[in-house]
Amino acid sequence: MRRCLEILWLGLLAACAQPAAPPPAATPERAETTAPRRAWWKEVVVYQVYPRSFQDSDGDGVGDIRGIISRLDYIESLGVDVVWLNPVYQSPNDDAGYDISDYRAIMPAMGTMADFDALLQGLHQRGIKLIMDLVVNHTSDEHLWFRESRSSRSNPYRDYYHWWPAELGTPAHRWSFFDEEGSAWRYDSTTQAYYLHYFSRKQPDLKWENPRVRREVYELMKFWFEKGVDGFRMDVIPFISKDTTFPPLPAAYRSGDYVAYYAKGPRLHEFLREMNREVLSKYDIMTVGEGGGVRAEDALHFVAEDRRELQTFFQFELVDRWGRRPDNWLYPDSSTRSLPVFKQIFTKWDSVFATAGWGTVFLGNHDQSRMVSRYGNDDPRYRTASAKMLHTFLLTMRGTPYIYNGDEIGMANIRFTDIRDYRDLMTINYYRRLEKEGGDLGEFLAGQAEISRDNGRTPMQWTAESHAGFTTGAPWIRINPDHRTVNVQAAEADTGSVLHYVRRLLRFRKSDPTLVYGTYRLLDRENPEVYAYTRSLGGRTLMVALSFGPGGGRTALPPGYTSGKILMNNLATSPLQSRRLVLEPYQAIVLELTKD
Ligand code: NOJ
Repeated sequence: MRRCLEILWLGLLAACAQPAAPPPAATPERAETTAPRRAWWKEVVVYQVYPRSFQDSDGDGVGDIRGIISRLDYIESLGVDVVWLNPVYQSPNDDAGYDISDYRAIMPAMGTMADFDALLQGLHQRGIKLIMDLVVNHTSDEHLWFRESRSSRSNPYRDYYHWWPAELGTPAHRWSFFDEEGSAWRYDSTTQAYYLHYFSRKQPDLKWENPRVRREVYELMKFWFEKGVDGFRMDVIPFISKDTTFPPLPAAYRSGDYVAYYAKGPRLHEFLREMNREVLSKYDIMTVGEGGGVRAEDALHFVAEDRRELQTFFQFELVDRWGRRPDNWLYPDSSTRSLPVFKQIFTKWDSVFATAGWGTVFLGNHDQSRMVSRYGNDDPRYRTASAKMLHTFLLTMRGTPYIYNGDEIGMANIRFTDIRDYRDLMTINYYRRLEKEGGDLGEFLAGQAEISRDNGRTPMQWTAESHAGFTTGAPWIRINPDHRTVNVQAAEADTGSVLHYVRRLLRFRKSDPTLVYGTYRLLDRENPEVYAYTRSLGGRTLMVALSFGPGGGRTALPPGYTSGKILMNNLATSPLQSRRLVLEPYQAIVLELTKD
């Protein structure tokens, strides 16, 4: 038996084969009688900027706010409406800024508050909104609150965190996502007690059950809203409420599914409603909850309008299922990673939000490997076509689309083979743990080469020069050597590039409300090679057909339609042969259907 790491979070670290889960039960599609209510945050396209890797302005090898400012014209040229900026707050960077030691300060490596204000102003002048990361399930252990909290049992901040006095014995086991020993409890000798940390030891969990903690959070949110920030992406927000008696994990959640337990705390929705009442409802802003561990049947509890909690939500079912090595993922013999399952997941989640709430569509972010490597094909023969195909998917589905920086030029996985190249504590700590346990390090590294978070964190490739125009110094993480051919400068000069196509797609989405509000209907459900669907609004129907493989594929217009006008096509050839569509490898088309 191979050793398993008991973790599957955001699809990142399942290091051994797990029994194939049955495909999700299809949720019956809801009857859609009226189009969803309009809202600006449903109509926008979001561009995620990972500041550490976007553009360095001062040669220290780390991207910074001034660097982003120098690229604002580029961001504007994409046609996006909102930038989501990963954390730039004061942080010792145990987890690349997701361990915050001061929520009202900017970390020096990123710049100053004046730089931040200039960035916000520069975006607003261009009509682009800015959403920030809200990381309040935990703080850094270097935050003043935790330093005070750990100093004595009677400190006024003691109850800001979850402590378990050692005289009560060892607390019931909780898994940590990042800890190299696996436990989310860490013994602290100063006060002979354990503190809870779902993430690293340096990321103690805040105790939301304490009303003072909640007030602190609401105040810091207001601080950023008063500055003019347009919303928050809420980090692991479903985890904030805990059963503070810390009973043993219920049996149903013990094997790998503890994330679902973490995401269902008893007072979760009470806290979110309070946050909405106290803060969110007072501003015209957007919110997106990171929904790890949340099942489709619970998603509306977060985002249905009458709940008055959040507005939108990232679902993780896809990335959780494609967490392991994605080789062969789309071949029909794989029951859990076939294209029909991919379609089923998106179709199910579309139906969740069809009559209430609102979803998001993403295939990449700073916690995922590169979209073209994972769901497309980064072989030079197919890279451009498959990257364009995946963007066509992102920008024609219902739900607010998120484009991760670098995907617009088809950036691919770097695939490190040496543990010394990694910077992410998640990979490094699990490697250490496996090493101690005598696990298969070769297999682990092979998996990480495909799915590690660092694949998505290598610097933005601006030019073919050394360091890719990202920095003049030594970059904090290696730059993908393929920047010599894949870079913004080359993409600008080539009208057939992914970049030019993405800009066209964005204009197309903006020009047609059918792509935002239109009803989604899956076609040709079991087709193993083609993902086809329609979007319909006010008597108009668009059909999207996407070939997801190097073999191309065939499908047909839906019944009742005799012809179609091609509005978008990522290749030069027309696949339309009467009512049939014969797609080239990774071809993507959007047609306006006609009945004659
Ligand atoms: C989710 C973030 O996206 C990830 O980067 C981070 O490590 C964890 N939350 C912990 O904050």
